[in-house]
Amino acid sequence: MRLLITGGAGFIGSHFTDLRLRNHPRDLVVVFDKLTYAGNPANLAQAKKSANYRFVKGDICDRAAVIRAVKQYRIDGIVNFAAETHVDRSILAPEDFAKTDVLGTQILLEAVRAHKIKKFLQISTDEVYGSIERGTFKEIDPLKPSSPYSASKAGGDLQVLAYRHTYGLPVLIARSSNNFGPRQYPEKLIPLFATNALENKALPLYGDGMNTRDWIYVADNCSGLDAVLEKGLLGGIYNIGGGNTRTNREITYGILKILGKPETLIKKVADRLGHDRRYALSTAKARTLGWKPQWTFAQALQHTVEWYRDHTAWWQPLKSGEYLKYYRQQYK
Ligand code: NAD
Ligand code: DAU
Repeated sequence: MRLLITGGAGFIGSHFTDLRLRNHPRDLVVVFDKLTYAGNPANLAQAKKSANYRFVKGDICDRAAVIRAVKQYRIDGIVNFAAETHVDRSILAPEDFAKTDVLGTQILLEAVRAHKIKKFLQISTDEVYGSIERGTFKEIDPLKPSSPYSASKAGGDLQVLAYRHTYGLPVLIARSSNNFGPRQYPEKLIPLFATNALENKALPLYGDGMNTRDWIYVADNCSGLDAVLEKGLLGGIYNIGGGNTRTNREITYGILKILGKPETLIKKVADRLGHDRRYALSTAKARTLGWKPQWTFAQALQHTVEWYRDHTAWWQPLKSGEYLKYYRQQYK
């Protein structure tokens, strides 16, 4: 495949880029990324060593730029990771979310339509289903998003499904649960808490700390996405989850224990507006593709926290300047 990976300079997209270059060495991989605050060329250091890797700085909302890249590299597959992704930011400033996550997706679908691209994989999220008190969501469950972020992602999914229904486009959707691992921007729970603890700063735990997420190690998510891209039934939706439901309190204590830091660092702060209580996915359908997660949660958390401990040069610049402004505004 001659693959365009949009959002490939971000957290999951960069791991997926590495996986594709490793496991499909004859394929071309073109990362197309706007390099927002979350896009980081350093995430592509490994990819840059491959002769089959190219990079284009571009915005998925820029129709002409998308078409140029598709034509220049004779692209025949697109995986769309490009999105605004942080729920708290979507609560403070929702506009870019609707723009990139809905309109950007639609512009990519137009490119698929016009250029006879053979596969389009939309990277979506378990948050489109909303919160679930007990049990797990299946792919046939209705969408009930509750934040501006998840509503925008649901809008993207609906565009994809409409283009399938109307034009018969060769699309797939993967809905992943909460990822964690190296190179995640330090505004998300695990990297924020690990790096704050390393700096002996407070860990701002929202509300009662009992909100629950279904955690998946990023490498397991990427192997699931690869299985969907290679073997998924066109038009299909696939949940990719780790099956590791943990409360935020459990995650917080786990990080402190690995780093040998005191519980006094935990600071209870006001709850996130509209905070979803629990996410959990059924992954039975993705497992029919021969995929299953390989990492245990404990191993993956240990590995991840140690990566942040050992890669201060990666995250320290991100926790100054623009990021710090946002962080101070939220917790002043
Ligand atoms: P991230 O915020 O780390 O990276 C997003 C990337 O998209 C960045 O490189 C950014 O520069 C790029 N980007 C943003 N707007 C763009 C635009 N208009 N045009 C081109 N590039 C643009 O995100 P992530 O956590 O790696 O998430 C990747 C995808 O996976 C997203 O679609 C997200 O909704 C989805 N997802 C993430 C998780 C998770 O836990 N992180 C879980 C499920 C689904
Ligand atoms: O479920 C998949 C989603 O997971 C992805 O689609 C999103 O892109 C990704 O950001 C993530 O969303 P969450 O809101 O679940 O992740 P976040 O790391 O922001 O928060 C995880 C939980 O931790 C959530 O219940 C809120 C809580 N939290 C988060 C932060 C940043 C805190 O208690 N304190 C914090 O400072």
